[in-house]
Amino acid sequence: MSAAATPTGDTVQVVAIDGPAGTGKSTVSASLAERIGAHMLDTGAMYRAATLAVLRAGVDPASDDVRDVVDAADIRLAVGDGDTQVFLNGEDVSDEIRTNDVTAAVSAVSAHAYVRTKLVELQRRHADDQFLVVEGRDIGTVVFPNAALKVFLTATPEARAERRHRQNVAAGRESILAEVLEAVNLRDHLDSTRAVSPLRAADDAVVVDTSEMTLEQVIDRLTELVTERIGVRP
Ligand code: DC
Repeated sequence: MSAAATPTGDTVQVVAIDGPAGTGKSTVSASLAERIGAHMLDTGAMYRAATLAVLRAGVDPASDDVRDVVDAADIRLAVGDGDTQVFLNGEDVSDEIRTNDVTAAVSAVSAHAYVRTKLVELQRRHADDQFLVVEGRDIGTVVFPNAALKVFLTATPEARAERRHRQNVAAGRESILAEVLEAVNLRDHLDSTRAVSPLRAADDAVVVDTSEMTLEQVIDRLTELVTERIGVRP
């Protein structure tokens, strides 16, 4: 079941990049956007901002009270070159949305249908007038079913946990590899089994397994696909 009415009609100038956590999605999407002259929209950042609002309100992420909190939250993304900046009620929360507390609660918050409806609406508005690389979990299946190119990135849970762990360490966040692997497996399970817009590859997505690929190789492969399907030359 989709979270909101899906647009029909013409192809939209969107490269949809879906896949589970730790496939290198964010880094790949940002680099690809830069190469092909597009902007990048990080939809996970929106779900994280909604989750931060819920945690700040002291509301249980699984409860129906989430609705009121998210309804009242003003979530905005500054889409442009480089890292996405995220604002919650006017405050820049780009760093705070990456904490372990937010990561642990985000699957529960993003499972609520009304949260998805609100955020999908915001996501679609961004594509009205620009060439976008959009990364998330349901971009090719729900948000932009008419995307010009859909890519689904995968990698083994071990490879993904290892990458997340290295990112955490590099960012100075506390991290234990075994715990990261457990969290990756749990989040995969929750994201792919939820009733509304579960994580899955669209039927017409190109699946790219990044387990044995370097970042450069993944970006090269995606640039090739963009050139083939959309005709933009790097
Ligand atoms: O990509 P990320 O790790 O920042 O995403 C955080 C969470 O948000 C992820 O566990 C699932 C959810 N999410 C989603 O449900 N749909 C999206 N389009 C993007 C993210």
